[in-house]
Amino acid sequence: MTEKDFIPGVYPQKVEKGQITYSSPSNIALVKYWGKKENQIPANPSVSFTLEACATTTTVTFYELGSAGSHFSFDLFFEGRPNEDFKPKIQTFFKRITVYLPFLKSYHLKIETANSFPHSSGIASSASGMSALALCLLEIERELNPEMTQEYFTRKASFLARLGSGSACRSIEGDLVQWGAHKETEGSSDLFGIKYPYKVHNVFNSYHDTILLVDKGKKQVSSTIGHGLMHDHPFAAQRFQQAHNNLSKLRSVFEKGDLDTFIEIVESEALTLHAMMMTSQPSFVLMKPNTLEVIQKIRDFREKSGTHVCFTLDAGANVHVLYPENEKEKVYAFVKNELLVYCENQQHICDRIGYGAKKLG
Ligand code: DP6
Repeated sequence: MTEKDFIPGVYPQKVEKGQITYSSPSNIALVKYWGKKENQIPANPSVSFTLEACATTTTVTFYELGSAGSHFSFDLFFEGRPNEDFKPKIQTFFKRITVYLPFLKSYHLKIETANSFPHSSGIASSASGMSALALCLLEIERELNPEMTQEYFTRKASFLARLGSGSACRSIEGDLVQWGAHKETEGSSDLFGIKYPYKVHNVFNSYHDTILLVDKGKKQVSSTIGHGLMHDHPFAAQRFQQAHNNLSKLRSVFEKGDLDTFIEIVESEALTLHAMMMTSQPSFVLMKPNTLEVIQKIRDFREKSGTHVCFTLDAGANVHVLYPENEKEKVYAFVKNELLVYCENQQHICDRIGYGAKKLG
């Protein structure tokens, strides 16, 4: 498929007004997207677990304007209150997607959005937020063109979400989603995420992700700036190649449930992401002392207990603690007894692998 396949023809239906609600989850990358080309094309492929508890619920109420305007007409409410701060990001999103959703300027939209996780928890809301909004907007298009197939809908939702925030394209479906062209993954594309197309061992069906809020401060560096740092980065070419290789290796890991190799790859991906930021110009150290304490404790406990707990990181100081369902008692007791002291006010979120966005109304 190409971008052109997402440009619609003349809509067969007319819709004057309506209301749509979606809840869309966050996701945690196992192989990380870090670096992009023009038009939100990733520099390397990535794969993630879709989450369940961390989600954004968005309602779009819309009515047709008398005549198509020259600008986007919308109001934005975040957690019940009018919010001007997020408007520029949405405005940019609308500009990018208007060619794919040409009805946008013909409607007034009221966007009401809220997160299940606390605001300023250091948890990125762009993946869940942008995917929820993309789904609501595409649902309007489905009303204008009811013949749209479910497969096309899912792809286009991911395609649109990507234009809001890259990682958002991995939040439409569950449970394991790959985004980015990879020569050994059939159907993979730079334009949208796909459900991982090969066999996945049962152990991964019910994985846990306990998110430790080590630092709830605002991100030191936005991911857009972070991605930009990969241009002219001395290790960029090797890093992009490594992501391709890790995806190749994961195929048999997922198939066999090979947790030892899973841990090696996932932890290396997290540390490489941070290594890229530490070695870019300008450089950023996004881990905090407590991040390192937690990492060390996880590795010691894994060795001592024989469990398969491991960590991954986003572009920040918080730690995602990953572990299989059959080890949850042991690992969660360890988290409670030994890791929560490193969190701000012991705050953490018990999340797990999830099955994608849901239409609520
Ligand atoms: C570290 O998707 O937030 O979470 O496309 O600029 O919105 P933009 O970036 P974003 O980058 C996420 C980077 C990451 C790794 C990942 O999720 O793959």
